[in-house]
Amino acid sequence: MIFELGKENSILNQFIAEMRDEEIQKDSMRFRRNLERAGEICAYEISKKLEWEKKEITTPLGVANASVLKQQPVIATILRAGLPFHRGMLNIFDKAENAFISAYRKHHPDGTFEVQVEYMACPDLNDKALILCDPMLASGQSIELVFKALKRNGIPKKIHIASLLASSEGVEYVKKHLPNNVILWVCAIDEELTSKAYIVPGLGDAGDLAFGNKL
Ligand code: URA
Repeated sequence: MIFELGKENSILNQFIAEMRDEEIQKDSMRFRRNLERAGEICAYEISKKLEWEKKEITTPLGVANASVLKQQPVIATILRAGLPFHRGMLNIFDKAENAFISAYRKHHPDGTFEVQVEYMACPDLNDKALILCDPMLASGQSIELVFKALKRNGIPKKIHIASLLASSEGVEYVKKHLPNNVILWVCAIDEELTSKAYIVPGLGDAGDLAFGNKL
């Protein structure tokens, strides 16, 4: 199942336009904040698909029948570009558990690269709702590798993958290589992917735009 949140115009599309704009990108604080705001909006949308239960709440004037989350989700992200997006999700799911994992592209002299997963800090995932957020779903290979690594900590009951921008190829890859109960949330889908797995028109390198260039 896939939800493309930018299909219907909302303030989310203004944030995406600003993140793509090479002039506005020069303001890295705005870039981070927009990524965080997109994370907040995605979290709000995902919350509609989580499990809810009824609870009696005592107010100063009586007892209200309220709905509360049955279980807190686990929000996982990939270092480092995922940090602002993750923060936005955590602003909404403020009692969530969290997982962090590193994945980087190890480049070979012939121009090819492979994705390496190294660091992982993750709670027990058995029977929980996992929200795996990565702002850029390019080839889909990193998400697959990260998901395989996270599975060592248990089998989640529900899996949500959330991305700001996805390539069509990345969406197809997720459909083919991840379990079919995965719900994919993307803000926008771009058609093209370069040979170096950059999304076109995309926005560039999300990690560099948020945190500065690397060597
Ligand atoms: N990661 C990025 O930061 N940008 C892309 O276009 C693809 C992957």
